[in-house]
Amino acid sequence: MHVADSVAGWLAQRRQISEGKTLGFVPTMGALHRGHASLVERSVSENDLTVVSIFVNPTQFNDPKDLDRYPRTFEADLDLLRGLGVDYVFSPSQADLYPHGYRFRVESEAMTSVMEGIHRPGFLQGVMTVVLKLLNIVRANRAYFGEKDYQQLQTIKEMVDDFFVGTEIVACETIREESGLAESSRNRLLSESGRVQAAAIYKALTRCPDVESAARTLAAQGFTIDYLEEHWGRRFAAVFLESIRLIDNVPAPSR
Ligand code: PAF
Repeated sequence: MHVADSVAGWLAQRRQISEGKTLGFVPTMGALHRGHASLVERSVSENDLTVVSIFVNPTQFNDPKDLDRYPRTFEADLDLLRGLGVDYVFSPSQADLYPHGYRFRVESEAMTSVMEGIHRPGFLQGVMTVVLKLLNIVRANRAYFGEKDYQQLQTIKEMVDDFFVGTEIVACETIREESGLAESSRNRLLSESGRVQAAAIYKALTRCPDVESAARTLAAQGFTIDYLEEHWGRRFAAVFLESIRLIDNVPAPSR
């Protein structure tokens, strides 16, 4: 597995990939878990070569404390990726990806007026900006994103369409713990009991008759509700537990 820690280093690797080979790409912020592993496995099975990026993107954090405490587990991530048969890891520095600071950013009109767009100002702009940079640098045939970040995934699809980026965006199902809790890098910030309690999010999303009762159920169990809403035939939750923000979504249950 080759590790490129700069844009120039990656571009040198990229030039050696022959035209006929397909390249799959899994963008990540590290702290890898089973959810990431499933994206990587799909890429490895569908492409000749797979590259995974690891970059904790500062422009998508609206709270500096959240950025500081975001888990960083680089060596363990490399071990996992080696075991999954990944060919390349791209882990650029901030100066490398933002050589002129945050001079340009990608804005989306429609998607940013709900949920993450309202509750995390700057988040979607930061994600779209870094994903566009990464897609331009990596030049993959396919890029893999999880449905857990559903709004992010849909906005990326729209951006790739509108900017004529030649990478196919592949949506992958959310991977869950046995309890139903969606796999997330943030889960490791929860206490043991918090992790058990967090399974209530999935239960409320799938079992409550409407979003109001789901919100009441979670609030009664000690969660702070950021939002609980339905859009595009899906039910979405963003809640805080032990000051950690957790998100999830499921197809809206039929009434
Ligand atoms: O979903 C993530 O891990 C991040 O938002 C992404 C897509 C890697 C961009 O930093």
